[in-house]
Amino acid sequence: MPPYAFFKKQFMPLGEAKIGILTHALHYGTACFEGIRGNWNEEQKQLFLFRVKDHYERLLKSCRILKINLPYSVDELCKFTTDLVEKSGYREDVYIRPLAYKSSEVVGVRLHDLEDDFLIIVATLAAYLNADAGVRCCTSSWRRVDDTMIPARGKITGIYVNSALAKTEANERGFDEAILLNHDGHVSEGSGENIFFVLDSKLVTPPSSDNILLGVTRDTVIQLARNELGIETVEASVDRTELYIADEVFFTGTAAHISPVLEIDHRPVGNGKIGKVTKELQRLYFDVIKGKNPKYLHWCTLAYSKLVQTRRS
Ligand SMILES: Cc1ncc(COP(=O)(O)O)c(C=O)c1O
Repeated sequence: MPPYAFFKKQFMPLGEAKIGILTHALHYGTACFEGIRGNWNEEQKQLFLFRVKDHYERLLKSCRILKINLPYSVDELCKFTTDLVEKSGYREDVYIRPLAYKSSEVVGVRLHDLEDDFLIIVATLAAYLNADAGVRCCTSSWRRVDDTMIPARGKITGIYVNSALAKTEANERGFDEAILLNHDGHVSEGSGENIFFVLDSKLVTPPSSDNILLGVTRDTVIQLARNELGIETVEASVDRTELYIADEVFFTGTAAHISPVLEIDHRPVGNGKIGKVTKELQRLYFDVIKGKNPKYLHWCTLAYSKLVQTRRS
């Protein structure tokens, strides 16, 4: 079964979905996207797509920022997604990438007087960060883009140059991930993750006004911490050195899941091991995203309407 794409309003084999080399988004970063996970549940032989509706609601907001006219409702976008995943027949975790983009094949930097288009691809994704073992981080020398430059609340392709600069710098310096500060020196987020810390049994995370992407996983963690652990999350600006003295630090993201941060700028976080709150949240989260917790099944969309018979070669 070949991988499929949703492209130009129809499903087609991925290999046939092509864009022209003059496409505006390719030259100017004028696109926005989402990353959605489908989580395979072996006992139920089912793929659970996590918070698809919330991802599409965020995509529509990103589109408003970029003046992209997406002529679909959230429900229609969800349906394209489940149909694409079902058609593709995966029996393992998948990553779904919807992309709304300026599709005109013209030269000229602007957002107006351009055509828009939309596509979805689905693929497998190896572990993004080591959520089991934890990660080592550095504070990036790159600063997070400000709302007055490219709004980080939109998941805009052009912004990811900022993330890529920080990620590569961190990797080349021997770290797993970068922590980006804002222009005012406060902690913003990782290159592709939100950040939380635990101090004196309180959970703290930077607010939306600190140039973060408002993560779906961030919201999931805030709700799980409140409902299941009785821990409220404080949204407040965070100093770099607050992370140095925190008991626990972790990243959240669709790709990164909940990834414990065990070292920052060569300082161990807490005792250098995965903390109690992080562990508890991971346990809850991994059950929830695989459809194993009935209380949170409303966050999961089943990809397969019937039992999966197919096996990908
Ligand atoms: C820059 C950035 N921050 C945070 C996140 C986490 O967002 P979510 O939990 O919705 O995946 C992502 C991932 O999409 C990201 O790219």
